[in-house]
Amino acid sequence: PPRSYIRPAGSPLTVIAHRGASSAAPENTLVSQEIARRGGADFIENDVQPSKDGVPYILHDTTVDRTTDGTGPIRSLTSAQLDGLDAGSWFAPHYKEARVPTLAAQLDDLRTRGGDLLLEIKGSHTKAEVATIVDTIRAHGMTGRVFVQSFEVDALRYTYELAPDLPLGLLRSNLDADPVALAKELHLAAYNPQDSAISKNPSVIADLHKAGVAVMVWTVDSADRWKSLESAGVDAIITNRPTELIGWNNAY
Ligand code: G3P
Ligand code: CA
Repeated sequence: PPRSYIRPAGSPLTVIAHRGASSAAPENTLVSQEIARRGGADFIENDVQPSKDGVPYILHDTTVDRTTDGTGPIRSLTSAQLDGLDAGSWFAPHYKEARVPTLAAQLDDLRTRGGDLLLEIKGSHTKAEVATIVDTIRAHGMTGRVFVQSFEVDALRYTYELAPDLPLGLLRSNLDADPVALAKELHLAAYNPQDSAISKNPSVIADLHKAGVAVMVWTVDSADRWKSLESAGVDAIITNRPTELIGWNNAY
């Protein structure tokens, strides 16, 4: 049977490091991934988008302006241009060697060192672009260690058509009228709402669990909210403070 991502009663919250250990190191780089992995996070979350020449790279924004020393939309830059960018100095001079990783480099790193990936397909993608992501995951033998999430329903449909073995999560800023029906239609393993959305209607959590669907909530950095969400029965927390959440899980 497919793995369930629902948290057994009494067991700790699943810890998902948002863009890696993004409060300690530049987001979405191999160093933020490694800090989160060594700290014991269950998953590293990050965001994938294609370069101009169609190579999947790990970057959150649609442009490289905020998190590198370059400028322009990622989709207007070639892989040669992206590979030359400094993706660390904006965070701290110490990280000047950090680069915008390719998805392939990130998967290589996780395959060798250990660690699972919550990969967000960021923004609208064509089916061919999703196919490149799926092929990269397959080529690295990482289908059992990658969970795909997206705000984009089309990206999830394409992923299911291409790779029904990859677990899927739907990101939501507001709750849908019928999350269970949507979860069934999209073959979701998880429904992933913003904290402010799920806190308005926590009864949805039990409904989703009955349908076999886990709930992964973003992006939650305070212990007060971890406690409320744990009591409400959510399965996983996406956080910028994975080390602190692991400590809280162990002590609580
Ligand atoms: O994993 C959820 C979260 O990453 C969604 O928001 O903008 O940080 O990608 P964002
Ligand atoms: Ca994300």
